[in-house]
Amino acid sequence: MKTTIAQVPAYEGQEVTIGVWLTNKRSSGKIAFLQLRDGTGFMQGVVAKNDVTEEVFQLAKNLNQESSMYITGTIVEDKRSPFGYEMQVKDIELIQEASDYPITPKEHGTEFLMDHRHLWLRSSRQHAVMKVRNEIIRATYEYFNNNGYVKVDAPILTGASAEGTTELFHTKYFDEDAYLSQSGQLYMEAAAMALGKVFSFGPTFRAEKSKTRRHLIEFWMIEPEMAFVDHDESLEIQEQYVSFVVQSVLQNCKLELQTLGRDTTKLETVQAPFPRISYDDAVQLLKEKGFDDIEWGEDFGAPHETAIAESFDKPVFITNYPADIKAFYMKPDPERPDVVLCADLIAPEGYGEVVGGSQRIDDPELMKQRYEEHDLSGPAYQWYLELRQYGSVPHSGFGLGLERTVAWITGVEHVRETIPFPRLLNRLYP
Ligand code: 4AD
Ligand code: MG
Repeated sequence: MKTTIAQVPAYEGQEVTIGVWLTNKRSSGKIAFLQLRDGTGFMQGVVAKNDVTEEVFQLAKNLNQESSMYITGTIVEDKRSPFGYEMQVKDIELIQEASDYPITPKEHGTEFLMDHRHLWLRSSRQHAVMKVRNEIIRATYEYFNNNGYVKVDAPILTGASAEGTTELFHTKYFDEDAYLSQSGQLYMEAAAMALGKVFSFGPTFRAEKSKTRRHLIEFWMIEPEMAFVDHDESLEIQEQYVSFVVQSVLQNCKLELQTLGRDTTKLETVQAPFPRISYDDAVQLLKEKGFDDIEWGEDFGAPHETAIAESFDKPVFITNYPADIKAFYMKPDPERPDVVLCADLIAPEGYGEVVGGSQRIDDPELMKQRYEEHDLSGPAYQWYLELRQYGSVPHSGFGLGLERTVAWITGVEHVRETIPFPRLLNRLYP
């Protein structure tokens, strides 16, 4: 019976064949312990001299790391392993003998590992991170599908900037200029006017010269947009969605979180509602915490966000930032037009802003005024203005950065480990 490691619990006591790679091995006189992986999981194979032919025993003892094979044997319970099962091997059919695999079980430096990212992905730690990433994506679709949203795909080649003109990747589009999308938001606003509640999920690009543990040049964003939903209602959706994602990972990725050594008590508390603090109060809090440099009107940096998050045991919304430091499309607070109806969701444990969102300007005159202030003109922006001319309604939306969310939930230090092939300031390969 050909199966996979993930399916093994269904075959206890039975003989199965699995296609595997060798990750490590240990042998003494009459026994060899093979650490195996097949993509679906990790398991030990035990080869006893008396159970196999001499040829197979010699093969098992001399296999090199990453050699590929079909391995056949009986599945038995193994209480010592977190996986719970191992194989008593009867036969091995070698597919390819590997040699000199560069990533050995010893420690390697980060740059070396990043140069070998195409191979590093095979490690149990990277495997666990990718599985959690997949679960976050799966839970995202489940949440939005269950709540009446339509998935809409935004273009990647665009004629306009959504967030700010300094971070755009420029390319030629035949005879015209084009840019790689920074955000699908403007298109989601159009889609929300057609479909009510929508979300996009796709790659976004920022030519940011930031070399931090939170910044990628290419990252994936989930961007819901809802018609007839105001700022406060949007915050409720955000906290429900983020809680759902975290609880789904806790439930469905137990082995992966264990592999990563994640302290799950810090995730169990992530349940809606989340605390909210206004930008004004956050500035005050920072001053009390000894940040004398911060002045009202300035944007928060990573140390500020971390300090604010430390005061709460859940993710925290910082709301109503000064209009001058936020994007052109955010709706001013009717009672205080110097701040906008927006929020950044700051993750605990120093992972920083994972979600940015706002209520959008719905008044055509105010939007025209913003266009003038921000020097936005031409056909690339004209269509967005038209959304405010034909049945404009209050609407809100937000963007969740997938990689920062993966980093926070897995507890990995740097976003470079949260995407299969990271694009960083100094890295376009592999
Ligand atoms: O706050 P941002 O720039 O918001 C927008 O793009 C809005 N248009 C979203 C919307 O309302 N539809 O980005 C949203 C999120 C951030 O909170 C962060 O998680 C992530 O995207 N992000 C990055 N992640 C990795 N590397 C970068 N360089 C990132 N820049 C933003
Ligand atoms: Mg932001």
